[in-house]
Amino acid sequence: MMDDAPAKPAAREEKFTASGGELLRDMWYVAMTAGELKPGKLHKKMFLNEPVVMGRQGDGKPFALRDICPHRAVPLSAGQFIDTDGVQTVECRYHGWRFKTSDGGCAHIPSLVKDQPFDLERIKVRNYAVVEQDDLIWIYMGSTPESEPDGPPPRFKRMVHQKGASEGKVKFFERAELACHMDHAVIGLLDPAHTPFVHKSPLWRSSKTLKEKEKHYAPSEMGFTMLSHEPVNSPLYNWLLGPDVEVEIQFLLPGLRAESITTSRNSFLGLAAITPITDELCEIREIMYWNAPSLDFVKLFARPFTQTFLDQDARIMKLQGEGLSYDPPLMQIPDADTLMVWYRRLKREWIKAQAEARAFENPVKSATLRYRT
Ligand code: FES
Ligand SMILES: [Fe+2]
Repeated sequence: MMDDAPAKPAAREEKFTASGGELLRDMWYVAMTAGELKPGKLHKKMFLNEPVVMGRQGDGKPFALRDICPHRAVPLSAGQFIDTDGVQTVECRYHGWRFKTSDGGCAHIPSLVKDQPFDLERIKVRNYAVVEQDDLIWIYMGSTPESEPDGPPPRFKRMVHQKGASEGKVKFFERAELACHMDHAVIGLLDPAHTPFVHKSPLWRSSKTLKEKEKHYAPSEMGFTMLSHEPVNSPLYNWLLGPDVEVEIQFLLPGLRAESITTSRNSFLGLAAITPITDELCEIREIMYWNAPSLDFVKLFARPFTQTFLDQDARIMKLQGEGLSYDPPLMQIPDADTLMVWYRRLKREWIKAQAEARAFENPVKSATLRYRT
């Protein structure tokens, strides 16, 4: 039973329609894993409908600039790295203007004649805050070019698990594009009821063996957490990771789900990160961290397995898109769709709190949810 089940959902909640809502601003998003951001290369990216060029500075620090030259709009990602008086710059391919990778400031305009009065300081490309943390590259998508993050990107309880190390190390990741609005991707990620149908496999899961589940949830920072429980198939976990298995799944805005499995000896963290590219396209990464040497062999079959899983989701999102294009009203039922209701409430509260310049107040209440999956 949900203890905060809306008595009259239609009255309390705004209509749940096909078109996704606002993409959340003033938030950190996972841009990519650290390994994907190869040095010496300009990476052409798009986040929340904004073209972004990313790369690494001379000292390896990541940078992100708006991928539009302020002169006449040629993407800077089509240009090249070039040294300007000992400073790393990107040279635009059209007229060779150069911009500092450290802050986007203009460093050189080749067509200017010596002593021609012109203030380069006036020209600047938007510079996004980026951080390399836990082997991921995070980008801050502010609502204005001036918006500054008020803290570092989120961390997960068991992300820092390598003995003595302060940073998580990505052991394995897989990426897929989902042809849908971010909201539908997140809702799909949170949805327990699709698993036996979309992710059925002759090996481990069929839609004929639904089991009743009862899960306890509590609000946590910017989201909610499914509280620790013994996994159903703990002998397997025991064998892989050790005794006293605990599983906890945390969701937080904008679209991050962290599943941590710990035992008295080892820990594992699976992070699913959804980042919007445009209103109709997003990318998802399944990123895994662990410290158990016994899991290293898992890598051998993790890739095809994870790719299959992501492909299954990508296919259902594409199919859903066919129906959504007619803008039908959508439904949500207790308790299997409750996490989706919470996601929508969290988003609404975040947008409201931002607009009213006040602290975010988590609208989720502790609850026990029951569903068959
Ligand atoms: S368009 Fe970039 S230098 Fe002219
Ligand atoms: Fe799925």
